[in-house]
Amino acid sequence: MMSADETAHSFDVLIIGSGAAGLTVALDLPEDLRVAVVSKDALNAGATARAQGGIAAVLAEGDTIESHIADTLEAGAGLCREDVVRFVVERGPQAIRKLIRLGVPFTRGAALAEEGFGYHLTREGGHSQRRVIHVEDATGRALQETLERRVRAASNIQVFERLLAIDLIRARHLESPGGDDQRRVHGAYFLDREAGRVLPMTARATVLATGGASRVYLYSSNPDAATGDGIAMAWRAGCRVANMEFNQFHPTCLYHPKAKTFLISEALRGEGAVLRLPDGERFMPRFDSRAELAPRDIVARAIDHEMKRLGLDHVLLDISHQDPDFVIGHFPNIYRRCLEFGIDITKEPIPVVPAAHYTCGGVVTDLAARTDLEALYAVGECAFTGLHGANRMASNSLLECLVFGEAAAHDIAERFADLPPPGIARPWDESRVTDSDEEIVVRHNWAELRRFMWDYVGIVRTDKRLERARHRVDLLTAEIQDYYGNFRVTGDLLELRNLVTVADLIVRSARLRKESRGLHYTLDYPEPLPQARDTVLTP
Ligand code: FAD
Ligand code: SIN
Repeated sequence: MMSADETAHSFDVLIIGSGAAGLTVALDLPEDLRVAVVSKDALNAGATARAQGGIAAVLAEGDTIESHIADTLEAGAGLCREDVVRFVVERGPQAIRKLIRLGVPFTRGAALAEEGFGYHLTREGGHSQRRVIHVEDATGRALQETLERRVRAASNIQVFERLLAIDLIRARHLESPGGDDQRRVHGAYFLDREAGRVLPMTARATVLATGGASRVYLYSSNPDAATGDGIAMAWRAGCRVANMEFNQFHPTCLYHPKAKTFLISEALRGEGAVLRLPDGERFMPRFDSRAELAPRDIVARAIDHEMKRLGLDHVLLDISHQDPDFVIGHFPNIYRRCLEFGIDITKEPIPVVPAAHYTCGGVVTDLAARTDLEALYAVGECAFTGLHGANRMASNSLLECLVFGEAAAHDIAERFADLPPPGIARPWDESRVTDSDEEIVVRHNWAELRRFMWDYVGIVRTDKRLERARHRVDLLTAEIQDYYGNFRVTGDLLELRNLVTVADLIVRSARLRKESRGLHYTLDYPEPLPQARDTVLTP
């Protein structure tokens, strides 16, 4: 029998992560299921709350499903799964209607050709049409607030903040019979960051919605939470992971010594901003006929090329030729934020650099968001669905969270009666560990990892750089494993352990790809191979 404490931490569905993906799953589950939504920090700590540009969907009169599919396939450089692209794009309009019903205050459009049933649609790289619906230039904040409000009001959903998932619970972690199927997941162990103790939470179905891993790089647009925890946990538990070499670098993050991670939305380029060198030359037309609105991999590589060629710290993004009222009206948050750093974007260009932004690869899932393990789902940026191929098209990722969040919830609801109750998990074993007296090791390894990933596994790669990175990943893995085995766990240590696992997956995948395709560009194999293949790693 379960103790009172165990019952308090046993649910029908356990959702790890509280961004667009996790909250969508929670809200779409039947109301008679007891659901836990857990975040390792505040509920809004993920990338969702920081999303700027918007959500791509076919809403404008002249736009078509076929056109959105064709643009996604083109940006994905031959590696998207067409059935998945169709699955997501076809569900786009209804996903947006649902958000409108839930109360997301999308920006209204003037009565222009660009409007989609009364809402303003912007344009971003790779899209041949205006199809990005948005809330000013802070879409994610409004989306997160709306979904959070609904989740907090739902009587069947319990919210837990500052609990960091460590590892998934499998049969070998159970103390009472819960089945001996090692391919079944029963929940997860969490570090309570306030109390400093580890507790198990069990459930019939567990959903990973833990976001991406872009903090594995020194410069990133992502929040601190993006340490690839779900991908690393799933990998350790036995799930396949695919296409990790395709980490997307956003072309335009603010370059300023005091701006830690501030994105300058691609929507600025959608509304006419151009990229210039310090001497004023507009350089993108030299690289692609779509110029600033080419897919992201092309723009980021062009900037990287020009910065290296001329020894620059940054390039310039200029929207100062547009009417100031238009600029401030469309981009009030970016305008305000830049002004705080002394840059008036209505009058002068913005210094920008590329930064790690999005993890296209992840835990292999199917159309119902099921993973390789029984009762384990993965949704959102931590999942690999086949939608993005070798390069995600702008604003397709929130759409993926919404569509697959709903698919996962429906699948769980449909098969819930067949999912056996979880077993009772053994308490976390701390008998052989002590408090660390060497926190500096964690800090040092964290900095070293992110630096060599940036230098050796960045926008342009070579075999030699990847080999150097592999060597360092191996050394850090051994050191961190040793540390993990001997000292009481802390949030920083757990995130570092996950980051080094993700780095290992990225480097291994990159070394296997003997071609240049989409986001993976290597000087040793500058052309794509005739046949496009996913890189699937099996534990
Ligand atoms: P997230 O929103 O990142 O949420 C992850 C959640 O998991 C968080 O709650 C976190 O606390 C939790 N978590 C992680 N690890 C653990 C753990 N171990 N234990 C417990 N909880 C954990 N995409 C678009 O489509 N349009 C845009 O305009 C856009 N703009 C962007 C702007 C920026 C600056 C960034 C960084 C990304 C942008 N993206 C955009 C990408 C998009 O925001 C993300 O891909 C998407 O929000 C991911 O949602 P998610 O729910 O999968 O994860
Ligand atoms: C942006 O606003 O440029 C980010 C859009 C995205 O990452 O999809």
